[in-house]
Amino acid sequence: MSDLTRTLPASWYCSSPLYQLERRAVFLKAWYLLGPITRFEEVGEKVGYEVAQVSLVACRMSEAPQDIKVYDESTGREFNSYLTETGLLFSTISDEAPSFDEFFPDLKPLIGTVDFTKLPHRRSIKYEGKFNWKTMVDGYQECLHCQYTHPSFSVFYPPTFYTVFNHKNFSQHVADPKKADDGLFLYFFPNCTLNVYGGGMSSFRVCPTEKPGVTRMEFDYYHMDSGEKFEEYFKFVRQVAMEDYELCEKAQENLEKGIYAEGILNPEKETGVAFYQQRVLGLVCAQHDAETASASSQAYEVNGNTRVVGPRLVDPALS
Ligand SMILES: [Fe+2]
Repeated sequence: MSDLTRTLPASWYCSSPLYQLERRAVFLKAWYLLGPITRFEEVGEKVGYEVAQVSLVACRMSEAPQDIKVYDESTGREFNSYLTETGLLFSTISDEAPSFDEFFPDLKPLIGTVDFTKLPHRRSIKYEGKFNWKTMVDGYQECLHCQYTHPSFSVFYPPTFYTVFNHKNFSQHVADPKKADDGLFLYFFPNCTLNVYGGGMSSFRVCPTEKPGVTRMEFDYYHMDSGEKFEEYFKFVRQVAMEDYELCEKAQENLEKGIYAEGILNPEKETGVAFYQQRVLGLVCAQHDAETASASSQAYEVNGNTRVVGPRLVDPALS
């Protein structure tokens, strides 16, 4: 039993200082999927994003396929961005992120097999939910809940063959290995997804707000058709999204009330959850150690007495 991975403790879903530490340890050092190239079709149209309280804009500057600029609208400062050969645009939100290849060393072979330039962008929606960003990612990264929570989804994508493959900073979920062109779900650490199913494609971002118990969900939908067929697809995928939303609000209530503290993850069915939670845990602990060491080294002399600048984070979950 001691070899089994444990979940992050409930306090990590409810603490503001912990979120601020996550922001520095995880979010400022990551890459984000802004969307397939079809999201940025109009020259001059600004598509706005906000990730971990950093605002950015992506804008097609000319008809040239590669000419998309990602920048801070208030300062004009450009962020590092990367357009893959098959048409996915990724961006950083700070200079602290490593290079794209360092962050996703084995992503290209996988996304190189799928053409993301075909499906036009049809609709985008966003709204807030009363849950921590990790509460939603926990649910995305496993499908144990699918049969019970998503009865309509499970008819088309039965969890029987459901498999998760974890790579550096992303996971690939496969609903049925025999259907390579449908039922593909990609999770990009920490908070982006790309979902090809139901005849269309969606991408969503789980955007943390400054309140650890409130998250903004942002969805972009892509489909070949704009009329009735799209509406049919939209209804189907929205049903699944709302089922997850309700589940997350209920799970967050349990986390905040202390009903659930922590537990053991299923070593076969929850490897996706273990993978990303361990990544958060490792990065947050390393950041905490670095900041504590740096604060101690800032000890300085004042009138012959040693003064120490305290660490920025004080969270019982880490001490
Ligand atoms: Fe779900």
